[in-house]
Amino acid sequence: MNSRRNFLKQMSGAAFAVSAAPSLISWAAVDIPGEDGLIVRSFRFVDLETPVEYFDTWLTPVPHFFVRNHMHEPSELNPEDWRLTIGGEVEKPLTLSLAELSKIETHEVVNTLECAGNGRSLYRPQVPGVQWGKGAVSTARFSGPRLRDILQRAGVKTTGRHVMFRGLDEVPGKVPPFIRSIPVEKALDSDTLIATHMNGAPLTRHHGFPARALAPGWIGAASCKWLTEIRVLEKEFEGNFMSPGYRFPNQPAKPGDAVKPEDTHVMTALNVKSAISRPSEGAKVKGSKVSIHGTAWAGEADIAKVEVSTDGGTTWSVAKLGHEQAHYAWRLWTYDWKTAKSGEYIVMSRATDTQGRIQPATPVWNPSGYLYNTVDQVKIRVV
Ligand code: MTE
Repeated sequence: MNSRRNFLKQMSGAAFAVSAAPSLISWAAVDIPGEDGLIVRSFRFVDLETPVEYFDTWLTPVPHFFVRNHMHEPSELNPEDWRLTIGGEVEKPLTLSLAELSKIETHEVVNTLECAGNGRSLYRPQVPGVQWGKGAVSTARFSGPRLRDILQRAGVKTTGRHVMFRGLDEVPGKVPPFIRSIPVEKALDSDTLIATHMNGAPLTRHHGFPARALAPGWIGAASCKWLTEIRVLEKEFEGNFMSPGYRFPNQPAKPGDAVKPEDTHVMTALNVKSAISRPSEGAKVKGSKVSIHGTAWAGEADIAKVEVSTDGGTTWSVAKLGHEQAHYAWRLWTYDWKTAKSGEYIVMSRATDTQGRIQPATPVWNPSGYLYNTVDQVKIRVV
């Protein structure tokens, strides 16, 4: 389907109401990737969700990869003029051009990137924020220099404990800039990158051209796009996107609880999680054998098993995991279900990881709707 037509179609739905400030809408300025089907969750700042039906390839084609922007993408970014500065608690502050960055040895990481807010719309009662369904998650092969190699050139002082990233987003009005930090241990991990490529091609504008941080296995917010500054700090960065943003309660919270900031922590690695990609919610399926497909991921851990239930969670059978695998990447899975008889069924999937974590049966509610990882389910009809 033509992307513009599809976009207009999406815009006629509920998502449009979220951001219908007419003066802010410039149709020509919005470049919706791909020819078909990303779900527009916000228009003012482009937030695009990958439909679960697209979870059928191990690597998500870039035009199908979800997009999460807190503010406007940089409108003009000339790669010739772009510079990356490295400063703060370092012996030798550096400035690198794109040409200089591209001369540093590259490393590849296949990473499942998931927004901490993925699944927020499934919490009850609902919580404010972008109402993501199940598709603020995708997988790509990222490549670029290791952050470690760049930091080693600059020489991190012993006082350096956290590494801060600043993006070149265009900040509207009083919105605080997108700046976050990660602990120095994660920054020095050999898989943490300054990624310049995604699935073998230079990053697109939506995904942070010309360079982004990549903190594999961690919430998407740790991977700052349109990177322009790296700063080594003595302590964690204190800014809107570290607090109150992207924090999770230390103790289980109930709807209505006022969780104090000091009783929360910065989110880092992702949860264990699975999603059913086919059949779709509400599908009518024929035959005595139905193939159930999906994917499962676990941040810094690996998937140990995925189980499927076709009786609403009473009994579970082990699904077959796909061959393609990498440390921080999701595993595709399938389960061939010999259907008993026609009727309505609740099909569920539940992943367990190598740290022994298992998807919970009920949501772990929290006021900002982060890290939703309840057992997935679809209701289907066998005819
Ligand atoms: N980096 C900048 N500069 N600005 C942003 O708004 N969003 C973050 C992260 N990096 C963001 C950013 C969030 S919340 C997520 S989930 C990921 O980018 C999404 O990456 P993607 O758009 O490439 O899928």
